[in-house]
Amino acid sequence: MEDFKKQVLELMLKNRRKHKGYQYTLPSVQSYPYQWFWDSCFHAIILCYFNIADAKKELLSLVAKQFDNGMIPHMIYWKKKSKTDFPIIRWGKSDTSTITQPPMLAYAVWQIYQKDQDKEFITKIYPKLVRLYHYFLAERDPHNNHIVSLVNPDESGEDNSPRFDINLGLPPKHTITENFKRRLKLVKANVRCDFNAPYCMKNFFWVKDVPMNAILCENLKIMSELAVLLDNQVDADYYLDRVKKLKAAMRDLMLEDNIFWSIYLDQKNNQYQKIKVKTWAMFAPLFAQIPTKAEAGYIIDRYLLNKKEFATPFMVPTVSYSEPSFDPTGFWRGPVWMTTNWFIVKGLKRYGYHDLAKKIIDNSLNLIEKSGFREQFNPLSGKGLGVENFTWGGLLLDM
Ligand code: GLC
Repeated sequence: MEDFKKQVLELMLKNRRKHKGYQYTLPSVQSYPYQWFWDSCFHAIILCYFNIADAKKELLSLVAKQFDNGMIPHMIYWKKKSKTDFPIIRWGKSDTSTITQPPMLAYAVWQIYQKDQDKEFITKIYPKLVRLYHYFLAERDPHNNHIVSLVNPDESGEDNSPRFDINLGLPPKHTITENFKRRLKLVKANVRCDFNAPYCMKNFFWVKDVPMNAILCENLKIMSELAVLLDNQVDADYYLDRVKKLKAAMRDLMLEDNIFWSIYLDQKNNQYQKIKVKTWAMFAPLFAQIPTKAEAGYIIDRYLLNKKEFATPFMVPTVSYSEPSFDPTGFWRGPVWMTTNWFIVKGLKRYGYHDLAKKIIDNSLNLIEKSGFREQFNPLSGKGLGVENFTWGGLLLDM
């Protein structure tokens, strides 16, 4: 592991960029030349294993571009020109995108605090966190049913996941180019929304996604702990209440047969419909301890340990092997990603499944040893896919 740790540090340093007093990490120099929201939270978690000051810098760069309404954009183009061919998608702003990503910020801040107990840093960043989570709770839940919504699949971090096919009007099998075209069309619509998320949802795209809400839930729980730390009992109670409401609403609207499904609002009859596509999202609620022990046992036995579903030779595929949309080389339509493995491992440990968690950790390490720090991995062959020198493999240090 010491050798692995050295490799991670080398990669993090190679991908580090500085700009006008800010410091951040590129997910991959090869083709991701910007700062990304949830990537930076993962980077901060990884950097905690090396240098806390760098972890703080990564997050401070991120919050520097927070919008007036509290939203943190999913991409920050610090330097306008880059050598790679990654398209600068114009989302209506010149220096950032105008959509967001799963808000892992409080979690990353909490990790930092666990390492150095620096209350001054918490005091400095807390107001930014308050504005961020307020944005999600206020703007992304226009019907006030306590579950937040996405206005674009990219906000999930799983850009072309089959969970979004129905709402993009796509069949289970289609090309990545077709998928990208639909999402680009949506970007144009997102720009027209002019930051009005409720309008955007009503007219163009409205999905209440399971991982996004599970991640929000865990982060709201941490917000309550941070508030306690700052002797702010009013906020602490408020966030705990929101956790309770979010969990209850997820049970109410998403749960069926022990599985939490993402949902969308069918505008014709004003009813929420479940998106019954089996992806790793069914394990995401474990991360926030939303399922009961019995529900957890059910999905683990029936799905995670099932060779026809998620127990592929290399685990854990992002989409079940049994889905018509499963594609072992299809970006978010099957390959193993290290972040999703990280969420699953954290969840399993919370329910006492330590052996299974260890199996996934060993599996992840094996993938990196075999194929390098690749972006994704083929769940059937273990072959590396996507860009090289991708930072997410560093999360293994925290599994
Ligand atoms: C891809 C991933 C997204 C990630 C970004 C940068 O778009 O789908 O989750 O944030 O790359 O790594």
